[in-house]
Amino acid sequence: MTDDSAAATQANLKRVRTRHFQKAKDDGIRITGLTSYDQLSAGIFDRAGIDFLLVGDSAGNNVLGYDTTLPVTVDELIPLARAVAGAVSRAFVIADMPFGSYEAGPDEALRTAFRFMKETGAHAVKLEGGVRSAEQIGRVVSAGIPVMGHIGFTPQSEHGLGGHIIQGRGAAADALLADALAVQEAGAFAVVLEMVPSTVAARVTRELRIPTIGIGAGPHVDGQILVWTDFAGLSSGRIPRFVKRYADLDGVLTGAASAYIADVASGSYPAPEHEYEE
Ligand code: KIV
Repeated sequence: MTDDSAAATQANLKRVRTRHFQKAKDDGIRITGLTSYDQLSAGIFDRAGIDFLLVGDSAGNNVLGYDTTLPVTVDELIPLARAVAGAVSRAFVIADMPFGSYEAGPDEALRTAFRFMKETGAHAVKLEGGVRSAEQIGRVVSAGIPVMGHIGFTPQSEHGLGGHIIQGRGAAADALLADALAVQEAGAFAVVLEMVPSTVAARVTRELRIPTIGIGAGPHVDGQILVWTDFAGLSSGRIPRFVKRYADLDGVLTGAASAYIADVASGSYPAPEHEYEE
């Protein structure tokens, strides 16, 4: 199959499944992902043709008003994952397992994964950690639940890692590869590489059978994911270097809200066309 026809096949899928992640890697087709936490954004991204949506625990910073992802609970993510899963027809939906919901061991990981699969309609779960999370990944996968791994900078360990620091530099590259291999051997269908040097991400991508999904990992990976509020220009505060802003939703909404406030204050809204007749 030529690259063009493989890309067309990928674009025309009725429903993206784990086997399509692997096929995309094998065919050299780049996989696209965004986070989503609600029905409206999920529907828009699905219609645009995104391959997968992650109901990330980044909802902590983007929806729930926390400073980090650490306080996020399973109970908080479940309604968000249900809204996203219910809004898509093609995209593969992955629910993030939050901090404190799987680290205690494989049994805890499986209990949490069951909740997401039974209560939300998501198609897979994601959890952070390489070698340290391999047993958890193995147990969840052996129950028939697809798992996406997540290594490199893992936001749930930001205090342990000493802040938002690039991972896998210098001698740490070998440990990153060991993490990636552990995730693959445990049965994950794909792995997120967050904030690692491009050359190291390229090496991991070459060494792995399963696809790598980069976020701040450069272009030599099998796919990309961005946090949707970052890519759409809705997030405030520090925006990481790897983010490209594809829109200015903050500016659009600020302009709309200012215009509405001015119209209500002046009495020009509602106008006759907005009124009901008797
Ligand atoms: O929660 C999230 O948004 C994530 C991405 C950064 C991959 O885990």
